[in-house]
Amino acid sequence: MQIINSVQEMQQWCLSHKKAGKTIGLVPTMGYLHNGHLALVKAARKECDIVVVSVFVNPIQFGVGEDFEEYPRDLSHDAGLLEKEQVNAVFAPPVREMYPAGYNTFVEVTGEITQKMCGNSRPGHFKGVTTVVSKLFHICFADRAYFGQKDAQQAMIVDKMVRELNFPLEIIRVPIVREPDGLAMSSRNVYLDADQRKQALVLNQALQAAQQVIQEGERNIEVVRDVMKKKIEQSPDARIDYIEINDARDLSTVERITEPVLLALAVRFGNTRLIDNLLVEV
Ligand code: PAF
Repeated sequence: MQIINSVQEMQQWCLSHKKAGKTIGLVPTMGYLHNGHLALVKAARKECDIVVVSVFVNPIQFGVGEDFEEYPRDLSHDAGLLEKEQVNAVFAPPVREMYPAGYNTFVEVTGEITQKMCGNSRPGHFKGVTTVVSKLFHICFADRAYFGQKDAQQAMIVDKMVRELNFPLEIIRVPIVREPDGLAMSSRNVYLDADQRKQALVLNQALQAAQQVIQEGERNIEVVRDVMKKKIEQSPDARIDYIEINDARDLSTVERITEPVLLALAVRFGNTRLIDNLLVEV
């Protein structure tokens, strides 16, 4: 497994495989890998000749006062895990390699899809994501790129960008991987103390409770939202950032639940902000 830090070297390495007729699968990550990331890697390994995993904590998707500095990093541990998954190359550029002094080019998806949920709580976040993944797609000549459904809004926005800018690649979404007790895997779970870790189970419980009332026939958005709110409020330390129910295809606003919906939550425990979601068919 190669570990490559330079953009030019990565581009040449991928181009040589491309010219040899190989398909390239890219798994973009910010490192500190867990089984959720490894599910993306395994999917890429199954479907592509060459698998590249990028490990880059992207400063431009973090807002002022967010956790860019503290974000957990452990490249040698990540490399060990990726080697076992038979990844061909890890791309781990320094920040200055991706954003040299004077860098001024950004890619932004506008409209409702980027304005609600995390787009509302984290202004500029998705512009940072679409910019960095555009760069990664170009650097790695990816045929397929793998994104987790845990960041459902991110995957939808990237998919829209790829379609609208005619990027020649396919976005593959991989289901959420959960701990045995239901907590969605996230690199940020390490920030939780033991008590917060227990309380964080309310995210998945709230989603399950909402799914149940929808399956029992409830169609009113406010009623379903209230079910989730009440469940989360059972945790004394939980501070709700958002609870949203939107159209599962494009996150547009729905009046009533008549089509598949995405139930989405962001909740803080202390300084840690967790997100989770569930797609519910009707
Ligand atoms: O989901 C993430 O880890 C990041 O947002 C991504 C896609 C790697 C871009 O930095």
